[in-house]
Amino acid sequence: SDKSDVLGAIIARQHHREGPLLPILNDVQAELGCIDAESEALIAKGLNISRADVHGVVSFYHDYKPKADARPVLQICRAEACKARGVEQLIKAASNAAGERVKIETVYCLGLCSGGPAARTGDDLHIRLDEQAIIKLVENA
Ligand code: FES
Repeated sequence: SDKSDVLGAIIARQHHREGPLLPILNDVQAELGCIDAESEALIAKGLNISRADVHGVVSFYHDYKPKADARPVLQICRAEACKARGVEQLIKAASNAAGERVKIETVYCLGLCSGGPAARTGDDLHIRLDEQAIIKLVENA
């Protein structure tokens, strides 16, 4: 499967390191968006440690998610140019509108600096955002 290919590549790349488990878990979380039971089993096998050992580490760190986050994402640029154009004043309104339903992520430069404040939803880029526009983006996400 795709997943075992991704996992195999990550393990091959990291297993020679000293203390390979955390680098592997970081890569799996980043590339697959979660570390589920199947991944735990494959990692345990790859490192020749017990599944319980892998699971213990996965459940200890909040950054590791057992399931992929299925929420829509609004990425808001908070790099210099967008800051200078007032993005910080929009964050609170965006977070309030998002609640738990939409995930707000901070990104650093979307390459739209002269049109900031800028944001992205999926493949769509949005520029010259004001409070109303960003709330609308959250609502439509
Ligand atoms: Fe925001 Fe470049 S700084 S798009």
